[in-house]
Amino acid sequence: MERLQDKVAIITGSAAGIGKEIARAYAKEGAKVVIADFNEEAMKQTVEEFQASGFGVHGVTVNVAKREDVERMVKETIETFGKADILVNNAGVGDNMQAAANVEDPTWNRVMHINVNGVMHGLRSIIPHFIENGGGTIVNMASISGLAGGRGGLAYTSAKHAVVGMTKNVAAQYGPQNIRCNAIAPAHVETGFAQTMPNVDQFGMEVALRGIKLLPKAGQVQDIANIALFLASDESAYINGVALAADAGWSAY
Ligand SMILES: NC(=O)c1ccc[n+]([C@@H]2O[C@H](COP(=O)([O-])OP(=O)(O)OC[C@H]3O[C@@H](n4cnc5c(N)ncnc54)[C@H](O)[C@@H]3O)[C@@H](O)[C@H]2O)c1
Repeated sequence: MERLQDKVAIITGSAAGIGKEIARAYAKEGAKVVIADFNEEAMKQTVEEFQASGFGVHGVTVNVAKREDVERMVKETIETFGKADILVNNAGVGDNMQAAANVEDPTWNRVMHINVNGVMHGLRSIIPHFIENGGGTIVNMASISGLAGGRGGLAYTSAKHAVVGMTKNVAAQYGPQNIRCNAIAPAHVETGFAQTMPNVDQFGMEVALRGIKLLPKAGQVQDIANIALFLASDESAYINGVALAADAGWSAY
């Protein structure tokens, strides 16, 4: 039996990078997947690619920062596939590594709107459906910056700590209703993520990189997709409310 047989999964930010690999891993294990991304062109390409592989797939153009977009994403999923079992709140952007003294309001606001409000919108929209359906599983994409203080700018670090907090809150409050909510906290993963950060703050970057030589190796998208698959499947049925460091032991030092 496939590990996600008969499941329906929504993955935000899944037209590229980690989210796309998670969607592929889920689809390979029998899930029907919803590719939800604000890059419409990349979303459509991903949908075509997945269709060509024989996967059950539906695409939605979504900006997770917008409440109405996220509500539409959940509604369309249920209309298309009849239900939703898994939500991966993966969409996120960087903060140009801006240290506290150099924070710019537009950067701060963008990071909070996407990385924090975006996750909240997903949680608020999906939980009533999960309750109605007897349960469901949420995987939030945090970061090692959600567990440690010195590896990103102020906004990104604050936002990813909020993601870890939301993860524990939902697990604690909705666990009794058969809803699981866990987070992944990756270190550096090779994707196009750095390109979302033009005009990097030199001071913020330098101080954040002080410990990078202790990172044994960069992660690959498959490394994170494997964890997301485990956390979405029943194999992790007894795990709820954790933020799992995926950093090759970097934070263990
Ligand atoms: N790459 C890393 O080193 C790394 C490390 C730790 C955590 N993360 C987290 O992993 C997640 C995915 O990162 P990635 O490296 O795959 O990035 P990426 O830039 O390669 O892909 C992100 C995808 O999300 C989409 N997206 C961005 N903002 C969106 C929005 N508002 N609404 C909908 N879609 C949106 C983009 O269009 C893109 O397709 C992010 O939350 C990021 O913070 C990444």
